[in-house]
Amino acid sequence: MSGFFGDNRFKFGVFGINCSGGMTPSVAPDRWKADWSEIVAVAKLADEAGIEFLLPIAKWHGLGGKANMWGHSFETFSQAAALGALTKKTGVFVTAHVSLITPAFAAKAISTIDHVTGGRAGLNIVCGWNPDEFGPHGIRLTGERRYDRGLEWFRIYEKLLAGGPEFDHKGEFFEVWGASTEPLPVQKRPPVMSAAQSGEGQIFAARAADILFTGMHSHEQVADTFANINARAAQFGRKQDLYVETQFVVRPTRKEAEEYAHYYATEMADPDAIDYFRRQKAVTISQSTKTGDTAADRAVAATLAGAAPRRYPGMFPAMYPIVGTPDDAVAELQRLANIGVAGSTLVFLNYLKELPYFVQEVFPRLERAGLRSKPPA
Ligand SMILES: Cc1cc2nc3c(=O)[nH]c(=O)nc-3n(C[C@H](O)[C@H](O)[C@H](O)COP(=O)(O)O)c2cc1C
Repeated sequence: MSGFFGDNRFKFGVFGINCSGGMTPSVAPDRWKADWSEIVAVAKLADEAGIEFLLPIAKWHGLGGKANMWGHSFETFSQAAALGALTKKTGVFVTAHVSLITPAFAAKAISTIDHVTGGRAGLNIVCGWNPDEFGPHGIRLTGERRYDRGLEWFRIYEKLLAGGPEFDHKGEFFEVWGASTEPLPVQKRPPVMSAAQSGEGQIFAARAADILFTGMHSHEQVADTFANINARAAQFGRKQDLYVETQFVVRPTRKEAEEYAHYYATEMADPDAIDYFRRQKAVTISQSTKTGDTAADRAVAATLAGAAPRRYPGMFPAMYPIVGTPDDAVAELQRLANIGVAGSTLVFLNYLKELPYFVQEVFPRLERAGLRSKPPA
């Protein structure tokens, strides 16, 4: 374990509240609108409940379809500073696309947010997958060598945050000169997350990140990813936590939960959004996905080919649905913890309506199961 975010055996990050639709491609009227006042309300609820962090999505283009999910989104660095000032304990992540944000900008912005929050900033590094998001910036994104560029970016960022005199760097993808930053962050090293899935992405994460936050297609795939990252991180003399994507529909009875999930993620699914996602993702897939190197690569390839069976077409292919009673949710999270997973995303159709019940019913059960402890008053 990397030791970030305290001692809970199973940790949570609220994922996607800065974007319309959150993480759910559904046209259900209750879908997340990402109104600022509601974002703040969810951030405060999360903070009081002892949820470890808020993880935004860096988005520059919607997914089309009927709802144009993600078409309305708040920028993640400025949002983290604002939410950090409005909360007391929860971690606030930013998400940086390495082709859009320079390492020097990221280092200074992370340090700013870390000072605003007294040491609660974290960096999620993403290498991009949708070329349409880069057009507004005048950049043509290709899939080739995304993670090599990411690693070079990270080495400059890391060197800046180590402090010390100005330095120059001339590499394959970046040339900078006279680089240094001040002030350094409050934390010695704000946590670094990589949101990769492919085998190439897993190697990048093992070299650079404290956390691999990845998609979950099945228990088998997650067990394979866990084994890979441990072996790879050890190879580079590092340690890493594994977090996965989970989406919750929790109700007092299994029937109610299943009916609600069926309603919003099957009947009200926005299939054009997922088709667009598939088409765009296919343009930039890693070489390892083409050759099927890891279980995650094979799962992504099957998803893109439309070959993977989808129980809930109104949820993302790599988002693992946990649908049932509070006890069902705890049993599922226990299973993930047993595989070695350190935590997962809290994703709901409507965060403000569903998070309070989750905190009220699932958290005490997780405490009894030894997976979490009560947050200090
Ligand atoms: C938890 C999580 C957060 C992510 N956040 C973003 C994001 O904010 N912006 C983005 O463009 N991609 C994001 N992604 C997509 C990843 O960067 C990556 O493209 C995806 O996981 C597929 O992995 P691969 O590129 O190695 O195939 C996220 C993925 C995960 C699992």
